[in-house]
Amino acid sequence: MEFKKLLVTGGAGFIGGHFVKLALKKHPNLEIINLDLLTYAGNLENLSELKEHKRHKFVKGNILDRSLVSELLAQGCDGVVNFAAESHVDRSITGPDAFIQTNIVGTQKLLEASRKASVKRFLQISTDEVYGTLGDTGEFSEETPLAPNSPYSASKASADLICRAYHHTYNMDVVVTRCSNNYGPNQFPEKLIPLMINNARAEKSLPVYGDGLNVRDWIYVEDHCQGVLDVLMKGKSGEVYNIGSDNEWPNIEIVKKLLNLLDKPQSLITFVKDRPGHDRRYAIDSSKIKRELGWKPSYDFETGLKKTVQWYLENDKWLSGVLDGSYMEYYQKQYSN
Ligand code: NAD
Ligand code: TYD
Repeated sequence: MEFKKLLVTGGAGFIGGHFVKLALKKHPNLEIINLDLLTYAGNLENLSELKEHKRHKFVKGNILDRSLVSELLAQGCDGVVNFAAESHVDRSITGPDAFIQTNIVGTQKLLEASRKASVKRFLQISTDEVYGTLGDTGEFSEETPLAPNSPYSASKASADLICRAYHHTYNMDVVVTRCSNNYGPNQFPEKLIPLMINNARAEKSLPVYGDGLNVRDWIYVEDHCQGVLDVLMKGKSGEVYNIGSDNEWPNIEIVKKLLNLLDKPQSLITFVKDRPGHDRRYAIDSSKIKRELGWKPSYDFETGLKKTVQWYLENDKWLSGVLDGSYMEYYQKQYSN
């Protein structure tokens, strides 16, 4: 499937920003309207290389604003990719309201506007967190029942199911991707990897939740974005595609790797009170997208992690720009012993 103009939402955030840049590079005739509310997580610096780009138009606005969305769709959009979301589990625990509004109501409003505008395809960026948690063995497949545990994952699962309903009820062309934990440049330093890099650089303590043995399955952000492009162009209507890199690590091992890369002492590690309802393990079976669409990840973890650390070391200005101190205070209060 080919597209002339996409409406991409949340494209000033971490993954959306990488997606917009990759899509414009890989598809020389594609135009993108990038709608983003610029919440604390949205940052136009993530798009600085697109300032004069003729095929990219940035619009500050809310996916909940139905008339704005309809107006943008009427500018010739034939596809929608929805990255816009409240994305941080810890914030969803202390303040779930915005998650319900943006992630659930916002997705439904976008779907409805897209249906009325008869776009060719709607792609929902979901997450592996909709499947809940695993024990020591097994992996999530697309058939695993949804069993979300946090307000964040429950809001994403709700959106995911509303997408399913729009496909079944209205015969709308909807595809859904469920990806594992992303890492890479431009990730807001409230998430594990950039938070640890930032603290280690400043020789502040590294707050590891619980026993540090919770397991996540990490993928380099550009590999995820290539998977999204493949699903958008080649995926089958109504289908869900898992995206993951077969790269599981206990949190404590990641933190140790980062300290080694930054040449900082392991004594900075501090075990703190666990996150309430903390999912123990995520692991994703991505054989479907590999088999059916020919996607595969191109970064191994050592290369991706080195590249990420290097980027944060070289982008002090970006870091100080996003760090106004408020989130640090917030977490210190939530997770101090
Ligand atoms: P992010 O928090 O970095 O970016 C989210 C973006 O959405 C921000 O630019 C923000 O300004 C924008 N936004 C928020 N509310 C909005 C609204 N109401 N209207 C318009 N824009 C709004 O998040 P991210 O890590 O880049 O995640 C992007 C998507 O990928 C999310 O849907 C998330 O659930 C999903 N996802 C993330 C991961 C991960 O590891 N980060 C993994 C799988 C799936
Ligand atoms: P996070 O990056 O918030 O992603 P998610 O919760 O969506 O998987 O956290 C990744 C893992 O790291 C998760 O098990 C929680 C843990 N974690 C810490 O131990 N300390 C921290 O300061 C943060 C932010 C996360």
